[in-house]
Amino acid sequence: MLAEEYFNLYRMCVDVQSIQFTLKDFKRFMQSTNIKVIKETNCVAILGLADSEIEIYFIGVEKKFRGKGLGKNLLKNVISFSKDYGASTIVLEVGVNNRPAKNTYLSLNFKECGVRKNYYSIRPGFRQDAIIMKLNLET
Ligand SMILES: CC(C)(COP(=O)(O)OP(=O)(O)OC[C@H]1O[C@@H](n2cnc3c(N)ncnc32)[C@H](O)[C@@H]1OP(=O)(O)O)[C@@H](O)C(=O)NCCC(=O)NCCS
Repeated sequence: MLAEEYFNLYRMCVDVQSIQFTLKDFKRFMQSTNIKVIKETNCVAILGLADSEIEIYFIGVEKKFRGKGLGKNLLKNVISFSKDYGASTIVLEVGVNNRPAKNTYLSLNFKECGVRKNYYSIRPGFRQDAIIMKLNLET
């Protein structure tokens, strides 16, 4: 699959105000050994790979397909990938008000383990805290 196709899927899955990656980034991702893009029907995840830790940079489902279990299923596949990769933890940041995402992580036993104050810029003059969540794969 081409970087353009992954990028188009990402754009369908991300909320406009949260867009953080460009087509140029996706071209770089496709060549990088430190980034893994997992694409499934109507949803996509972007992961950063370190030796023992996987970071979820983004996970998203196309708007009209949300609330039907696709996000949770994709997250299960991220967990399987991370175990096969040999990671001991998965870590991510999520906006404190992003209930669908927080609930998706909580439903698969991710735990809240910290806060980054004023981490996200939502719109000019308005920032939102991020919660750091982790899943320990060794228990
Ligand atoms: C977060 C996201 C990936 C979840 O995917 P989804 O397919 O809509 O979620 P699912 O249908 O798989 O539901 C997963 C869990 O979240 C809960 N959930 C889903 N939508 C919810 C909502 N609107 N409000 C509260 N909880 C919700 C479900 O009840 C389910 O929990 P359960 O298994 O305990 O019942 C999706 O909402 C999305 O793409 N959001 C925009 C991008 C984003 O914010 N990504 C996160 C970046 S950190």
